[in-house]
Amino acid sequence: MFPPLEGNGMIVPVDLGWFQEFFKLSSRRGEGFLFCHIGVKKMIETIETIRAAALARVAAAASSEELEALRVQYLGKKGELTAVLRGMGKLPPEERPRMGQLANQVREELEKALLEAKDTLARKEQAGRLRTEAIDVTLPGRPLPRGYRHPLYQALNEIKAIFTGLGFDVAEGPEVESDYYNFEALNLPKEHPARDMQDSFYITEDVLLRTHTSPVQVRVMEARRPEIPIRIIAPGKVYRRDDDATHSPIFHQVEGLLVDKRVTFGELKGTLMAFIKQMFGETVQVRFRPSYFPFTEPSAEVDMSCVMCGGSGCRVCSHTGWLEILGCGMVHPRVLSMSGYDPEEVSGFAFGLGVERVAMLKYGIDDLRLFYENDLRFLRQF
Ligand code: FA5
Ligand code: MG
Repeated sequence: MFPPLEGNGMIVPVDLGWFQEFFKLSSRRGEGFLFCHIGVKKMIETIETIRAAALARVAAAASSEELEALRVQYLGKKGELTAVLRGMGKLPPEERPRMGQLANQVREELEKALLEAKDTLARKEQAGRLRTEAIDVTLPGRPLPRGYRHPLYQALNEIKAIFTGLGFDVAEGPEVESDYYNFEALNLPKEHPARDMQDSFYITEDVLLRTHTSPVQVRVMEARRPEIPIRIIAPGKVYRRDDDATHSPIFHQVEGLLVDKRVTFGELKGTLMAFIKQMFGETVQVRFRPSYFPFTEPSAEVDMSCVMCGGSGCRVCSHTGWLEILGCGMVHPRVLSMSGYDPEEVSGFAFGLGVERVAMLKYGIDDLRLFYENDLRFLRQF
């Protein structure tokens, strides 16, 4: 790379790294001053060249990464200026302070320039980020999707509002119920064939998931006897082994109970008609159909004309044109006396309303399983 030393020791150093080679030579004994003189001059030139190049490149750098690369290139362990400083020890001692001062001065200058450039760039980069990531607080907000009540609970709330408006209080009872309250106290002793009307989920021989809300009648009468009047509704979940378009294994009922002196079937009918007209309008078609429940006598079921087919008959109404929404009747004297009331003194009426059926008719839904599938396309319509 470098021409060999000849004659009295003249060399022609190559630009880059010339000084290393030069130091090697000048430190040989007897080959002194001349090289030294040339060397110092050349060294100053080199430092100046490095200085000018480095400062120009620092000023032109466009990113922090570029600046860091320049720092390494000039001031790093193997950097160009570092190499010059390292070579200093090989200069004749009297030259070292001057050279050292110059090199250090340039290093400091470079360090300062790097720092300032870094600062300026950081500020520019931040300004750029602020521009691109700016938030316009005056823009309108993005609306969040709003939740709303499930159609079954909309129907249930409406039912509750109507009955509380008629003077009924809301009572509650357990979903896991004893055989006594679910059946026995309702005049349905063990082995009574009418137990088959409600196919049940038993937990033990004496404990089951309630098949209807009627046990709440008994619980309320037991708790309030001998107080009259009793005027309550009891909404809640009930469970049966049923499953088709109009029957679900879990469904909701609203029980109603009124106990007072001289309550009549006419009041039962009037109360239910008032409810149905408020819920469905004045023109709705309703029929009271004689029926049987062990806990009421006489008993009836109430049907509404099927909204799916308008009464001509379809799958939903089992081709009868009618859909049953509730069972009702005058509280059986045995039930009154088992619960601590004297059937000679008081009488009462009771009903059990199917909330799913009411919601189907109200909203025109042909399959009650839709209520439980959580399909948002269905639920969003209410
Ligand atoms: C009863 O459950 C009686 N406890 C009602 C009663 C109360 C009568 C008080 C007299 C006095 P029934 O099994 O018919 O009756 O059910 C009442 C209502 O619940 C029905 O008219 C119907 O609207 C609804 N229903 C019954 N089974 C289901 C089911 N599997 N899915 C959805 N709704 C049902
Ligand atoms: Mg029925």
